[in-house]
Amino acid sequence: MSYYEASEFLKTKTNIRPKTAVVLGSGLSELIDMAEVDTIIPYSEIPGFPELNNTYHKCRSVFGKLSGKDILIMQGRIHYYEGFSMQELVFPIRMMKYLGIETVILTNASGAINTDFVPGDLVMIEDHIKLGFDSPLRGKNPDEFGERFFDMSNAYTSGLKELALSAAEKENINLKTGVYGYMTGPQFETPAEIRMLRIAGADIVGMSTVPEVIAACHCGIKVLGLSGVSNMAAGIENGGFNTEVIENAEPVFSDKVKRLIERIICDIN
Ligand code: HPA
Repeated sequence: MSYYEASEFLKTKTNIRPKTAVVLGSGLSELIDMAEVDTIIPYSEIPGFPELNNTYHKCRSVFGKLSGKDILIMQGRIHYYEGFSMQELVFPIRMMKYLGIETVILTNASGAINTDFVPGDLVMIEDHIKLGFDSPLRGKNPDEFGERFFDMSNAYTSGLKELALSAAEKENINLKTGVYGYMTGPQFETPAEIRMLRIAGADIVGMSTVPEVIAACHCGIKVLGLSGVSNMAAGIENGGFNTEVIENAEPVFSDKVKRLIERIICDIN
């Protein structure tokens, strides 16, 4: 895939040269208003970007300034359950590598397994458990990005975790920490699956982010993962898929994500 071509194309469209990127997941796409927007390029115009149909009209790359720094915001992501391959899912990450991105903040919405959490909470992802056996690195290793085998012990970069915790303190945001259990969806989990995830050590569950973390770790991009709790997970009191709960929770965590990201960008190197 033509990650290089994609990045060169973007460089001809904007003078913004970001070192940090933010991926806005479910319930968070409106956060684009936190940035001073310079250039908007729909994913569909980027050469080599996985083909999207018109339900993806909100999927755009936005170049601009945030807290005075150049930033790339990816508004909307694609998911495995939509039929994309894992390799396709990580196209944006590899394109970012060629763009010179050093740090990516990945955001998502999740269900809470940990009963200390409630919808509306914001959780910093400490680590993950990946269920489902596919990997974006399956197949011939793309040597230009990294080695065949690589370490994932610091995939969620420790320095960024410290930075996020101190940024949260400054902003008076109650930032929880937890392990993210990755399920490929689109069906929500069964109560038995949630019990299994809880025993395995997962605090939250969701259907995104992990393939991107793997690709970022492979190519040496630092990762911070932030997850907004949109609902309690299946089998937990008032848990499972509930549109009303999810819609009420989104504005609560999205406000926190916005303030936290602004502060983090301010504090970053
Ligand atoms: N399960 C999986 N993915 C999710 C959930 C959930 O409960 N909530 C938001 N994304």
